[in-house]
Amino acid sequence: QKILDANHIYITACGTSWHAALIGSYIIEELLNVPVKVEYASEFRYRETAVNTDSVVICVSQSGETADTLAAIRKAREKGALTLGIMNVVGSSIARETHCGVYIHAGPEIGVASTKAFTAQVTIFNLIGILLAQKKNSDVEIIKTIINDLGILPRLVQSVLDQGNHISAIAQDFIDVENFLYLGRGYQFPVALEGALKLKEISYIHAEGYPAAEMKHGPIALIDDNMPVVFIVTHKGYDKIVSNIQEVRARGGKIIIISSVMNKELENYSDHIIQVPKINHCLQPVLTTIPLQILAYH
Ligand code: M6R
Repeated sequence: QKILDANHIYITACGTSWHAALIGSYIIEELLNVPVKVEYASEFRYRETAVNTDSVVICVSQSGETADTLAAIRKAREKGALTLGIMNVVGSSIARETHCGVYIHAGPEIGVASTKAFTAQVTIFNLIGILLAQKKNSDVEIIKTIINDLGILPRLVQSVLDQGNHISAIAQDFIDVENFLYLGRGYQFPVALEGALKLKEISYIHAEGYPAAEMKHGPIALIDDNMPVVFIVTHKGYDKIVSNIQEVRARGGKIIIISSVMNKELENYSDHIIQVPKINHCLQPVLTTIPLQILAYH
């Protein structure tokens, strides 16, 4: 009830979990119509915040042991906030020190790169969003769609995983490249950040993620035929992102498109396309992130 009554929510995390948190903030704001602020735990813990006894502070951590996230949650507790954890590792410090929470049960992350934890975190934010929205009697139509799409999500994830060979072949064209840009809008902006982080972490290739429309405020200066750009395209905001693609095309940038839309226009504008199935926009990041993980891997 305290979460439902909250007039503001903070979400705090680091790295990939922060990217999932950003998507989570979009979901909660959209489904519950409550303002949500996302903070890097490493900033939040040292900053004077307005957190008080009316605040709800959600933290996201795969390991449940990240020192900054743990410190952020301790600080939130000291200020009297209700703390909620979204963790993978059962019995971890953050799980023990939050008032309540959810385990994502993604299974152990074997490598350093957080992958299945990210998609599970996004899925859990959908579950939290629909649970709270149901209790608040918010827009039932979107809730029904998300519930329905959760049912088909495993099959759709498999269909993306099945494209491993296609994505591997694309990667061969870029093995000598030293920089990448990842661009997305709306729910796909955090996906762009995550795609760039995975490439840095797995392939040691410099990459940056940006909101696609921010490109014209600086990064566009970097675009030439040595700068591949990965665009994440979905039905939501389609026309807007196509105009961003045209801007990159005009400067000779190599374009890889991850898309839930398939048409001739995108084929004309891109060097490579990876198609993903269309699903509700709150869940779509699950399907658009996986090809980026596979691309980074190859
Ligand atoms: O265990 P956590 O989710 O708290 O870890 C936070 C980050 O260190 C982590 O997500 C890191 O960014 C990943 N290795 C990225 O793949």
